Amino acid sequence: CGIVGYVGGQSAQDVVVAGLKRLEYRGYDSAGVAVLADGGLAAAKKAGKLVNLEKELARRPLPAGRTGIGHTRWATHGAPTDENAHPHLDNAGRVAVVHNGIIENFAALRRELTGRGHALESETDTEVVAHLLAEAFSACGDLAEAMRQVCRRLEGAFTLVAVHADQPGAVVGARRNSPLVVGVGQDEWFLASDVAAFIAHTRSAIELGQDQVVELNREGVTVTGFDGALAEVHAYHVDWDASAAEKGGYASFMLKEIADQPRAVADTLLGRIDGEGSLHLDEVRIPDADLREVDKVVIVACGTAFHAGMIAKYAIEHWTRLPCETELASEFRYRDPILDQRTLVVAISQSGETMDTLMALRHAREQGAKVLAICNTNGSTIPRESDAVLYTHAGPEVAVASTKAFLTQLVACYLVALYLGQLRGTKWGDEIRTVVRQLSAVPGEVERVLETMEPVRELARSLAHHDTVLFLGRHVGYPVALEGALKLKELAYMHAEGFAAGELKHGPIALVEKGLPVVVIAPSPRGRSVLHDKIVSNIQEIRARGARTIVVAEEGDQAVVPYADHLITVPATPTLLQPLVATVPLQVFACELATARGNEVDQPRNLAKSVTVE
Ligand code: G6P
Repeated sequence: CGIVGYVGGQSAQDVVVAGLKRLEYRGYDSAGVAVLADGGLAAAKKAGKLVNLEKELARRPLPAGRTGIGHTRWATHGAPTDENAHPHLDNAGRVAVVHNGIIENFAALRRELTGRGHALESETDTEVVAHLLAEAFSACGDLAEAMRQVCRRLEGAFTLVAVHADQPGAVVGARRNSPLVVGVGQDEWFLASDVAAFIAHTRSAIELGQDQVVELNREGVTVTGFDGALAEVHAYHVDWDASAAEKGGYASFMLKEIADQPRAVADTLLGRIDGEGSLHLDEVRIPDADLREVDKVVIVACGTAFHAGMIAKYAIEHWTRLPCETELASEFRYRDPILDQRTLVVAISQSGETMDTLMALRHAREQGAKVLAICNTNGSTIPRESDAVLYTHAGPEVAVASTKAFLTQLVACYLVALYLGQLRGTKWGDEIRTVVRQLSAVPGEVERVLETMEPVRELARSLAHHDTVLFLGRHVGYPVALEGALKLKELAYMHAEGFAAGELKHGPIALVEKGLPVVVIAPSPRGRSVLHDKIVSNIQEIRARGARTIVVAEEGDQAVVPYADHLITVPATPTLLQPLVATVPLQVFACELATARGNEVDQPRNLAKSVTVE
């Protein structure tokens, strides 16, 4: 969910709604806003996208106020209805609260409140907080103190932001395990789950720590722990370009982000490789001596980042000769994994806030493992809680379906694999130097792929009426197939499955029937040619059963030509790096197919970009 709070001289409704617009990618099931004005509190909320709330506000504007809060929701407790939308108010309508996360003991608290005569109207866990805050405020007369008292009673992960009509000019926030940052402007202050909400106004930000309460008022910012002790604050400068969060002439953020990939890859490589084929990762704060001791690597991530991790496994095992496992973060800690001080855990996350990944890394650190984060968001929770971080420099990614973040995650994974290989002095020393040099050519290669996408778009449009598309790959082409299928599920709402091509004969081939589109990622015919030969056989097998084959192959790969109903070529790269070019047509394919089906690509149904619940 996205949260915004504001105290200053401008219209709170305008600032809050504009901030919510920047955060809509975090959830768009419903939205709401509350402002303090004329000694009272006024609120509006609406199910559906933010535009519904905007229409409502245009019809019935809230009274002009200079203090306000707002929320855009990704539903957890209760359906996305007007009633369940945030903010939630107490019975007297004096306190309003917005919330991100889950309050695990809400049922017990709800019973307790109903027992004391409170009437709760929604099915959400948040409403409980509004009532608890109202009670605590009547007893102590201070919203920050009331918030501290309430937070001490809550279990789970949450961000809360509240206002009270009897304390005009103040916004109070609280944070446990869920993101919240402060923006400090000229006589105005902001609270938001992400800096994107306020970069149009200020680039000075303050990080909030775990279990802290913050009060913003016309005097400034006060941060304490849940116990009331004053906390030290960490201020920082946001260096993201505000224009990067605008569409810049593209029809969607996703198209813009796909097009931005050559730049994103180049920025992620910048300063980390040199022309001699050496790597410079001094920013990774784990001492080289400790990295040399590592005897196992475990990668944890979710969604698209998990696919980057699957590819990283091939690279790490090959170049470092260390055993490497890649696991879904949501499964990891529940199976009691074997970890110790010699295990390096790599947590990959675009947002740095994904709760499943955060919980996995906490578990790893408790067991003594070292954690390296690969992350795109400065100052987010996952890098803060890791031993070291390698930032991807993709810039803000707004479209829910990840594209440029994925490519830069791959680059970061290769850098880690090559660096560990370089450090451990494996027999692949020469190959490592060559690959490092080849990496610098990747931005240009991605650019070339992007220039030849018209036939892919045409093909995508021609498939808009299909129900199912399968994706096949071998080796690193297998995670690429999974990623291609995920993009299509996310955007086109089609049944799309990725398989390891070798598994085809063990089951999935039963799905193949006449006319079924099957996308096959063919590895380079050079290098490991045995892989290539096998995939050519697989293409023949499915084609013999009537499949319509769409083959992604290296330029000049003649062997696939007779069996490809549609051929998509990508520049020649070393086998392990092929995902950097082979994924791009699949992104374009999914985006175009979704558009042809009339779907809105930036905000697919039911999804959120940053999932801060487990
Ligand atoms: C959500 C998004 C996915 C993303 C995943 C992991 O499910 O919809 O696009 O891949 O989270 O996100 P992260 O920020 O941890 O990379």
